[in-house]
Amino acid sequence: MIETVPVSLGARSYEVRLAPGLLDAAGAHIAPLLKRSKVAIVSDAHVASLHLPRLTASLNARGIAHSHLPLPRGEATKSWAHLQEVVHWLLSEQIERNDVVIAFGGGVIGDLVGFAAAILRRGVRFVQIPTSLLAQVDSSVGGKTGINAPHGKNLIGAFHQPALVLADITVLGTLTERDFLAGYGEVAKYGLLGDAGFFAWLEANGPALAAGDEALRLQAVKHSVALKAGIVARDETEQGERALLNLGHTFCHALEAATGYSGRLLHGEGVAIGCALAYETSARLGLCAQEAPSRVRAHLKDMKMKVDLSDIEGDLPDADGLIALMMQDKKVSAGKLNFIMARDIGEAFVTSDVPAPVLKQVLTDALNRRR
Ligand code: GLY
Repeated sequence: MIETVPVSLGARSYEVRLAPGLLDAAGAHIAPLLKRSKVAIVSDAHVASLHLPRLTASLNARGIAHSHLPLPRGEATKSWAHLQEVVHWLLSEQIERNDVVIAFGGGVIGDLVGFAAAILRRGVRFVQIPTSLLAQVDSSVGGKTGINAPHGKNLIGAFHQPALVLADITVLGTLTERDFLAGYGEVAKYGLLGDAGFFAWLEANGPALAAGDEALRLQAVKHSVALKAGIVARDETEQGERALLNLGHTFCHALEAATGYSGRLLHGEGVAIGCALAYETSARLGLCAQEAPSRVRAHLKDMKMKVDLSDIEGDLPDADGLIALMMQDKKVSAGKLNFIMARDIGEAFVTSDVPAPVLKQVLTDALNRRR
């Protein structure tokens, strides 16, 4: 059975459809969107080597012509150079204003191809077929697209909603354990930011879903997407509530910059460590009881995830260096950083009122635990 989560945005509304094996029916889901029987697929080359034949077979079954551009996997692909490559390729493929582009891969491909679709001929439609857990629960939904700048992550981009999102739960089975658990950082984030019941469900079911239970995976992805869809429908362009989705991300972005956006730290791993640091800071500020950060850490450890700065290999800057990296965050406003803090599990809120000495102490203590 196909599960459907609507993203209600007026004329730009769309559906996230989820099911095991959905890739084999992608052509049937995409066909009604097409004005002519032609699509352009941009993929992660590694994803293509695993799953492209299933996608193209489903397009062939509907008589949909397709061309394909594979790109290197990894965060470095979210660059001006690859944006230019994608846009020029789509133009050379004569993709028109009414055509549809397919983003086939994880968060990097979704963000890059979504941005290319946003600017190609002043905007063409695109379909997200997310293949990583992180992309299925977060980046494929909500229309944030973009690339990285030397100054920081995701600093160049646009809001451009997809026309449809197709999440095949079965493809998650080909992820490495590390990639799966990195995506799980974003799943846990949803419980932490606004749904204590979901966090409790994850505490009970997380290890089994990580071990491969597809029914539990479907439930977790659907619930995460539904939570995100609700927030995006209420605050598409992040004027308020949507900022809650950035729980853990201010710390995460600084750590990603400090590790050079390399394999030393995956985005979702940084989110998990960032959530732990956000709850630790909240407890230090007296906003929540110490039990809350202890519970966050216990669950992440139970999932065998990175939770401490000591879980990151190699050198890191000192606390002042990490704070300087945080100041490059998009959430800086009038020189002040906006943080997502928490009153309890499932009760996050936005504040700029995090005194610098407390932040510095939390980071100093976390760095000292590395020694
Ligand atoms: N990944 C955060 C957001 O979509 O707002």
